[in-house]
Amino acid sequence: MPHTVNSASIDLTELASTAQRELDAAADEAALEAWRIAYLGRKGRLTLVLRGLGELPIEERRRRGDEANKLKDALEAALEEKRSALQRARLAAMVEVGLDVTLPGRRKRIGRLHPVTQTLRQMLSIFVGMGFSVVEGPEVELDYYNFQALRIPEDHPARDMQDTLWLETKANGAPLLLRTHTSPNQARFMEQHQPPIRIAVPGKCYRHEATDASREWMFTQIELLAVDAGISMADLKGTLFEFAKGMFGQDRKVRFRCDYFPFVEPGVDMAIDCFLCGGTGCRTCRGEGWIEVLGAGMVHPEILSNMGYDTDRYTGFAAGIGVERIALLRHGVEDIRMFYANDLRFLEQF
Ligand code: DAH
Repeated sequence: MPHTVNSASIDLTELASTAQRELDAAADEAALEAWRIAYLGRKGRLTLVLRGLGELPIEERRRRGDEANKLKDALEAALEEKRSALQRARLAAMVEVGLDVTLPGRRKRIGRLHPVTQTLRQMLSIFVGMGFSVVEGPEVELDYYNFQALRIPEDHPARDMQDTLWLETKANGAPLLLRTHTSPNQARFMEQHQPPIRIAVPGKCYRHEATDASREWMFTQIELLAVDAGISMADLKGTLFEFAKGMFGQDRKVRFRCDYFPFVEPGVDMAIDCFLCGGTGCRTCRGEGWIEVLGAGMVHPEILSNMGYDTDRYTGFAAGIGVERIALLRHGVEDIRMFYANDLRFLEQF
């Protein structure tokens, strides 16, 4: 093995000073690695010296072994020292070009509830606080529950109030539609239960109509239904005023006036004064100064008797509340369509 013979004659002092000089000159990580291979690698200059030790006589071997091992430790330490010096220099250069390494890390973005969901939950908790139970019903509905059971027969002009999205599929020959309101759950629930009834039914509704700042083709409602002995219009008004106060505080103006819905008698609607124009009229309230948030009334006695209830004993009230309109009023959002435009810059504000 020729190199072991040669390595015995290598001058370690000379090797040490050459190594140090070359290390001082190394300017980057790649140069450091090349230097490490040249001196400390498998065939490195110092490695060969260490390997050749076995060929030497015992005394000589000990002395030179000592010296070579010390040099190895020294070179390794010098390499580490040079490596961290290079790193410090690199960081210093970064700071110089404007990178502030003391800045805190980036926060992970946390998901949140959609503003309409937040409002829906707040509304439900007000009604639950008043003794209502939350129940749900189907979004794909039969003509019967959506219209007929609510005293809206096929040729009734009230059907014009709700442009319906019909499905091509039928259920045993009966037409199916996307519910246009949550009111079908009145009949669905009464069919299965006896008074006393106090339910709140949240859900999505669909209408085939042009959208504007206060109308969407998909929206959310909460249906209220209360049936019991002795329920009167005062209960209806008390419940809805209490709700408006809970939602908007004492200062908001509430307007209550007569309206017509085939399934209630008498029927009313409730509006809140427009948050944007304060009642003078703008695009959001469509010039009216008020934003209608719900329809309500005393359940038509014909519906109660169709359900087999004793109408001498039982009366009830019902209401259908638009959740997006409430969210819009609460947050001062100008256009209802913002809620479903999926713009995170908007949604992240809630
Ligand atoms: N279902 C009606 C609509 O969507 C709203 C409504 C009006 C619901 C009067 C009711 C009610 O329960 O009593 O236009």
